[in-house]
Amino acid sequence: MQTLRLSSGHEMPTVGLGTWQAKPEEMEAAVLAALNSGYRHIDTAFNYKNEDAIGKSLKKWFERGGKREDLFITSKLPNYGNRPSDVERFAKMSLEKLGLEYLDMYLIHMPFAFLLNETDMSPAVHENGGDFMLDTSSNPVAVWKEMEKLVEKGYAKSIGLSNFNESQILEIINISNIKPSNLQVELHAYHQQKPLREFCKSHNIAVTAYSPIGSPGAKEHFQQKYNYSPEKFPDLLGHPLVKEIADKYRKSPAQVLLRHLVQEDIIVIPKSSNPERIKSNIDIFNFNLTDEDLQRLDNLDRGSKGRIFTFLFFQGVENHPYYPFRSEI
Ligand SMILES: NC(=O)c1ccc[n+]([C@@H]2O[C@H](COP(=O)([O-])OP(=O)(O)OC[C@H]3O[C@@H](n4cnc5c(N)ncnc54)[C@H](OP(=O)(O)O)[C@@H]3O)[C@@H](O)[C@H]2O)c1
Repeated sequence: MQTLRLSSGHEMPTVGLGTWQAKPEEMEAAVLAALNSGYRHIDTAFNYKNEDAIGKSLKKWFERGGKREDLFITSKLPNYGNRPSDVERFAKMSLEKLGLEYLDMYLIHMPFAFLLNETDMSPAVHENGGDFMLDTSSNPVAVWKEMEKLVEKGYAKSIGLSNFNESQILEIINISNIKPSNLQVELHAYHQQKPLREFCKSHNIAVTAYSPIGSPGAKEHFQQKYNYSPEKFPDLLGHPLVKEIADKYRKSPAQVLLRHLVQEDIIVIPKSSNPERIKSNIDIFNFNLTDEDLQRLDNLDRGSKGRIFTFLFFQGVENHPYYPFRSEI
């Protein structure tokens, strides 16, 4: 398994299994299919509500002789736990569900925060409607100081950020004793994040691409869960250029999209619950895209117009002082 060395000194596999929207009942088989196909990196989050199911699969794998030190497990502090007093207890809840003693990576999921409904550990909602209640009292700098304590106490090997913009990352870097070693952001052929990638490189932060094949399932999810329809939704898998390059290398469009990123030193975490697709999504190390093909894929970038995850489906989130994409809306 190809890895990247993080500034924390740990190795992070460049392909991981994404698990957002994977139903708990599908999760057990998906994780085992992934481990059997050579995955050693799994990306989850408290908010995905599947850590219990992942824990069950990991337990089975350990019982069959799998070793904890061979795995790289990422989880994330939810936006409704985004305050200093909640960091350790959410990390411990994730650990308990996963059945692990430490996480390899713990990320602050989003820079903005919602109030917490303590009864079911979910975002608190306004009484008159379904909107989440913003918590504007917390700030990521104070949260980061608690993230550092997780490393000191042995609950996380490495810590990082997700969905932060450049100035928000800099704010953390400037006050940190332990620098963020990983940034997880939306990144795919239509939204390539070139300036942010340069910035991360200059600060030795490894970049993980979420939605690396364009998150084909997200549109339906946004519509069903939030009644939110983005104006345009990408179909990267069906893009003629991606299909042409896939034919040329006798690979699938998804493999080309993933290879494009990995070849440019980006970590990818494609989600699938289908054993065949899980297997094929990691089968990307036996071909090289030429410089010309990399350039043609680079040219698909639509900059901020290619972003799918604006988080505007959380109504009013743009009013939070730490909403990261204000300059784009
Ligand atoms: N930090 C964050 O805020 C954040 C946000 C979004 C996502 N993430 C993480 O990143 C992971 C990946 O992102 P994502 O789930 O949004 O999108 P994605 O990985 O780009 O796409 C997943 C979708 O593509 C389908 N798919 C997977 N492999 C395929 C293939 N080879 N051919 C055709 N279709 C394929 C999957 O369906 P099947 O399951 O049916 O195969 C699923 O609907 C997430 O699962 C999560 O772990 C993080």
